[in-house]
Amino acid sequence: MATNDHDSHEIDELSGTQTTGHEWDGIKELDTPMPRWWVRTFYATIVIAFCYVIYYPAIPLIETSTVGVSGVTARGTVEEKLAAVKRDKSKLDVKLANTALENVRNDDQLYRYAVAGGESLYKVYCTQCHGSGAQGAVGYPNLNDDDWLWGGDLDAIRTTIAHGVRNDADDDTRLSMMPSFGRDGILSNTEISSVVEYVLKMSAKDHNPKRAIDGKAIFAENCASCHGDDGLGNRDLGAPNLADALALYGNDRQSLTRQIIAPRHGVMPPWLKRLGEPKVRQLAFYIHSLGGGETAK
Ligand code: HEC
Ligand code: HEC
Repeated sequence: MATNDHDSHEIDELSGTQTTGHEWDGIKELDTPMPRWWVRTFYATIVIAFCYVIYYPAIPLIETSTVGVSGVTARGTVEEKLAAVKRDKSKLDVKLANTALENVRNDDQLYRYAVAGGESLYKVYCTQCHGSGAQGAVGYPNLNDDDWLWGGDLDAIRTTIAHGVRNDADDDTRLSMMPSFGRDGILSNTEISSVVEYVLKMSAKDHNPKRAIDGKAIFAENCASCHGDDGLGNRDLGAPNLADALALYGNDRQSLTRQIIAPRHGVMPPWLKRLGEPKVRQLAFYIHSLGGGETAK
């Protein structure tokens, strides 16, 4: 039971310290003074808290808080950091846009910036047509391999991305059209099936040898101007190699016949006006790094 002893000035015999006057069942509480260092620290924290409230935004109001004489805000600090990142980035952008393509590799930081930026841009703008792994699909070229329609060095890739393919929206777009040999009556059905046999022969597929002989002459006259005498293609014209195993639209008998009767033509959007030179270059470096990139001749 606590009793309040009115003699609060009692001195404890053992420690010589004054008691508080509180007593519980004969146990008395000593009135030991706080250590000085503790008391000083305590007052110091009060002073610091006052200064803090004056200097920094501190007291919450309904919508904001007191401003503080320093003018520091959490949002301001974030904005400053973002601005610094942006400044660094735009410095690199300017550098990327103004460095000759073949020299970018010599600058490790710039090259890594280009490829990494290109990779994230690719995910946003290119996957819907070329696939998430740039593997392509029927009519959409695979960008990982070394089979290029329009060229695989940095400059050619940059030009394709910048201006697109067969796209009216860009005056410098890559252009070329394969004639509709069947639909426009340039070749007869028999001639078309002969030339198909010859194309099958070129890509080492099962074919009819007799018809392929006829087809060879038809090819030389009608097709070689774009696809080359040996069918190896022509990158200035975006004419694919017909002698390899890869095909944009399929290299079985039926797909070939269809393409020669009424060709399909791939259309790709131009990106320079939309994304600007630094981003187009980032994309070019990324695509070039995928495995099929060539060095300029
Ligand atoms: C709307 C569909 C579409 C989108 C989006 C698209 N492309 Fe293409 N791209 C094509 C087609 C179709 C072709 C083939 C054109 C042809 O037949 O000549 C092509 C061709 C290319 C080529 C040339 C390949 C070669 O073999 O020469 C490159 C490089 C390329 N695209 C890169 C890109 C990049 C990078 C992006 C994203 C910024 C992109 N493409 C977005 C449809 C697209
Ligand atoms: C004026 C140039 C030109 C001529 C002439 C031409 N082609 Fe083409 N050919 C092209 C182009 C360009 C493409 C690619 C279309 C595309 O990228 O969408 C193509 C595509 C093809 C393809 C599809 C290739 C693939 O990878 O899927 C075949 C097959 C083909 N041509 C066969 C022929 C044959 C056979 C002839 C002659 C009878 C011929 N071409 C004449 C320009 C030409």
